[in-house]
Amino acid sequence: MKEESLVQLAKSLLYEKALVKINGEFVGAIAAIPRNQNNQDLNYSEIFIRDNVPVMIYLLLEGKFTIVKHFLNTCLKLQSDQFQTRGIFPTSFVETEGNLVADYGQRAIGRVCSVDASLWWAILAYLYVKRSGDREWATTSEVQIGIQGLLNLILHPSFRDAPTLFVPDGAFMIDRPLDVWGNPLEIQALLYGALLSAVGLIQIDLDEKGYADERATDNFHDPSNALIEQQIHLKAYAIAWLKKLRSYMLKHYWVNSKIVQTIRRRPTEQYGDRVANEYNIQTETIPHWLQEWLGDRGGYLIGNVRTGRPDFRFFTLGNCLGATFDLISLAQQRSLFRLMHQNQADLFAQMPLRICHPPLESEDWRKKTGYDRKNLPWCYHNAGHWPCLFWFFVIATLRHKQHQSSIDNVAIDILLQDNYEILLKRLPQENWAEYFDGPNGIWVGQQARLYQTWTIVSFLLTHHFLKVNPDDANIMDLPNLKNL
Ligand code: GLC
Repeated sequence: MKEESLVQLAKSLLYEKALVKINGEFVGAIAAIPRNQNNQDLNYSEIFIRDNVPVMIYLLLEGKFTIVKHFLNTCLKLQSDQFQTRGIFPTSFVETEGNLVADYGQRAIGRVCSVDASLWWAILAYLYVKRSGDREWATTSEVQIGIQGLLNLILHPSFRDAPTLFVPDGAFMIDRPLDVWGNPLEIQALLYGALLSAVGLIQIDLDEKGYADERATDNFHDPSNALIEQQIHLKAYAIAWLKKLRSYMLKHYWVNSKIVQTIRRRPTEQYGDRVANEYNIQTETIPHWLQEWLGDRGGYLIGNVRTGRPDFRFFTLGNCLGATFDLISLAQQRSLFRLMHQNQADLFAQMPLRICHPPLESEDWRKKTGYDRKNLPWCYHNAGHWPCLFWFFVIATLRHKQHQSSIDNVAIDILLQDNYEILLKRLPQENWAEYFDGPNGIWVGQQARLYQTWTIVSFLLTHHFLKVNPDDANIMDLPNLKNL
């Protein structure tokens, strides 16, 4: 099929089959388009916040601001006010018999709530305001109270001295047990993005209401205006948290060959506030595959930091988001893309991109996933290949190229082009499958849904950024920490 007709086909699938209405207006897309109307497949006919991230970004590019606003408002109405889940946005929602029904985890396997959904809401809200220019929406009390609810949920005292968010197994796109409990990278990258966005949205409101001068101060006191006082306080608190989070991530998550060699030789069993090995990491926990994987100039953010048990797996989405949100520096972004380029046979292979590398195998798979049939080694979340991830790499690299020219950019361009060709050829052939299995991603996922919305939209976004307007990669720009 020719490129242009394929784009038209993908667009019609999105607009005519995937997008659904609530209260007579388009509100978002279902996760997968059912093959026949009577066959509702598990919860794939619900509107997932996470699956709608690419959809909403694409709609912003298309200027369909009303749909994005309706989506954001609907999610906001569903933000929980219950004691145990207060401030949380649902994983997914659906309209049944005129009522909105939302899932905060009470229907999910393991009863786990999707932490990423709440964080994405703040990011999408900021991106909507920036792209549409609808600052008025940001100043409504619904939006500002929603942001406060979210910040109160995240920025609270805890029993540990780390700025990362501690979550149960499967609290994000990987929503089944895969030993991703604790402080998984994807959640921390999203936390960074969500805090930047929340601060940006509060600042817009303060500017519009004439409190622009209170930008950097936490000393503001006006008993007649409790909301403003609370906003100024939360903003200052969030900025301090952001700074702490960024230096923590760069210190504990970022690795390259030199850093690995240093941590292998550190003393263990230390006590005190100035020790080198706070997490008591033993040399044996550092896997040997890292030697070749890192090469001498590659670097990446590791999957998780936990006492004595760091997770060195490479998680694609967390790393791409770390670059896109400028959590890592431009030089580190270059090392990351170099690493992804030199390991393209693993990460891109026959279907970009692999969700994480390497898979949990044998005893690890048995013990850590509880014999999870869907997450067999090289399958699904356990190192399967997900086309919905490719546009995140596209946007991360294009943003980087806008800020830094380098000889490596040529290699990246070739990688982008070659993989775009793979999507072009394989996705329609394989009916826009959800994911692909096996070490090179040639097989359609054993339990993959077909006509999966975020697969279709990832293709549309990739086409837009590579063929229509690469400058639009700045759509994901968040407020810059240095300017806050
Ligand atoms: C699966 C995926 C999850 C996704 C959902 C709907 O549960 O693990 O990430 O949001 O399907 O597509």
